[in-house]
Amino acid sequence: MNQQVNVFDYAGHICESMKKGILLTTKSGEKVNTMTIGWGTIGIEWGRPIFVAYVRVGRHTRQLLDDSGEFTVNIPYGDVDSKILGFCGTKSGRDVDKITEMGLDLVESSVINVPGIRQLPLTLECKVLCQQLQNIPMLPEQIQNRYYPAGVDGSDPGKNEDYHIAYYGEIVNAYMITE
Ligand SMILES: Cc1cc2nc3c(=O)[nH]c(=O)nc-3n(C[C@H](O)[C@H](O)[C@H](O)COP(=O)(O)O)c2cc1C
Repeated sequence: MNQQVNVFDYAGHICESMKKGILLTTKSGEKVNTMTIGWGTIGIEWGRPIFVAYVRVGRHTRQLLDDSGEFTVNIPYGDVDSKILGFCGTKSGRDVDKITEMGLDLVESSVINVPGIRQLPLTLECKVLCQQLQNIPMLPEQIQNRYYPAGVDGSDPGKNEDYHIAYYGEIVNAYMITE
């Protein structure tokens, strides 16, 4: 049995973990893909617990997310092989099966159709309530130049000219994988 948690008891841990990266996993049809994320917001909106993920327009993840409207977030708790976060943050699911290459163990979710990942046991199951393309021209120029460099196209896994889409995921289940 997985151990249910109150997600807000772990909000500090989740934000700290994002400094090194956590995983956002998507599934469309039978295809499961995961990518490292370093940005995210956890809180309450519309009276519901929400995780907002920020995914650049050109990511493969974006396509899968739009197809399924669901995602899991997996956060390290204890040791995690840093190679996992490096690989999943630089390789695209368009070119490589990251789950197989990194030997990640998928664990079926309870509420949604996207699995979690055993190696990063703190798991949030999320359903997308809405998405919003960020209004980058409203940002201070210094941030625009730093995070959205002109001429670096969206195939670059690092900073590029693609805007982020904010995906507002309702956290419908939160637990520690114990099995
Ligand atoms: C530490 C770290 C944090 C990252 N955070 C994000 C993020 O918050 N949003 C994003 O769109 N890409 C982020 N990336 C880049 C993606 O993980 C990377 O482009 C990945 O290859 C995309 O995979 P996909 O094409 O299979 O979706 C991050 C990469 C690293 C290494």
